[in-house]
Amino acid sequence: MKIFIDTADLNEIKEIASWGILDGVTTNPTLLAKCGRSFQDIIDEIFTLVDGPINLEVLSEKADDMVREAKQIVSKIPQKYHKNITIKIPMDSEGLIAVKALCKDGIKTNVTLIFSANQALLAAKAGATFVSPFIGRLDDNGQEGMHVIEEIMDIFCNYDIETEVIVASIRHPIHVIEAARLGADIATIPPEVIRKMMKHPLTDAGIKSFLKDWEKVKK
Ligand code: E4P
Repeated sequence: MKIFIDTADLNEIKEIASWGILDGVTTNPTLLAKCGRSFQDIIDEIFTLVDGPINLEVLSEKADDMVREAKQIVSKIPQKYHKNITIKIPMDSEGLIAVKALCKDGIKTNVTLIFSANQALLAAKAGATFVSPFIGRLDDNGQEGMHVIEEIMDIFCNYDIETEVIVASIRHPIHVIEAARLGADIATIPPEVIRKMMKHPLTDAGIKSFLKDWEKVKK
């Protein structure tokens, strides 16, 4: 399973990319607002940090405007990074029209704010490169988010659909394990959850005791 980082915080991306585990980045307006840098600053740097899909969201509500906005974003990014630009498009009828048009122009899309397998199927039919079901928000709403991932994986597998499934809105390490067991293509994970995946108290205790015992070894 590929691992994307779900943040616009450039320091977090830089540090976690240095571990050699990142395949891409997802951002959204909330994450961009949190990091306090200008959009231009972020896009100037983010492509230099990870060589994989970098997801940037459009905010227009009409299909034509979404396509225009997507092309504006593309025009601000140096040609050598164009293969990594992925435009996040919200899941509605205008979004589907925009996905179709961008797909025709060879621009990768990630249909976001997906909460059902039917939405994922429609996004894939429109030509989405990726779909992003938001499992944490479903859990928060009293619905089993992972069940939607299971349904999408079954459907995409039945019909050899090439659209990749990004498990999004991940809240804790168990979500990551469940996504991987279901064969999801990608999990996009907040930095704090990636750190939790890396840690285990027995590993820390083991390192400590090995270091202590090494002092007793005759050298
Ligand atoms: C995915 O691309 C989104 O940025 C993200 O996973 C949303 O998660 P949230 O529910 O924690 O806001």
